[in-house]
Amino acid sequence: MILAEVLKRFPKKKEYLIEILLEYQKQKETHHFEEHELKEIANYLNIPESRVCSVVGFYTFFSTEPRGKYIFQICRDLPCQLNDNFDLLSSIQMILGIKVGETTQDGLFTLEYTSCLGHCDKSPAIRVNDKIHGSLSLNKLKAIVAECKEKENA
Ligand code: FES
Repeated sequence: MILAEVLKRFPKKKEYLIEILLEYQKQKETHHFEEHELKEIANYLNIPESRVCSVVGFYTFFSTEPRGKYIFQICRDLPCQLNDNFDLLSSIQMILGIKVGETTQDGLFTLEYTSCLGHCDKSPAIRVNDKIHGSLSLNKLKAIVAECKEKENA
């Protein structure tokens, strides 16, 4: 089980809670937490389950809802908006066939907003899982989606 493997890599210290949550959510294909998993993490760290739940609930980058294998996060801060010359939001919504906050029916893609990704000099930018893509154009965006689909068909 992935969670047991992730837990094994961290000391049983409460200071590692966020690191464990981040690592596990990244590893899990649906990028979300189920109740029994939060309980298992709490048990491992010997802290109340309510504490784990409150941390997951506090940070928007944690989710208790299943998400797509590929999470597209669109930066909505000013530099990205100013340099968006092809309407990134409408384009990605059209390409994926979903709106922000939704996941495709095949479970492959989720679309979300994010704040500045620290790549303002290469705006507009998006993050797909761990990778940031900057200097976006419509063609580059289509190529990123195509690459994700190709990985699935490989
Ligand atoms: S404003 Fe979008 S990366 Fe900084």
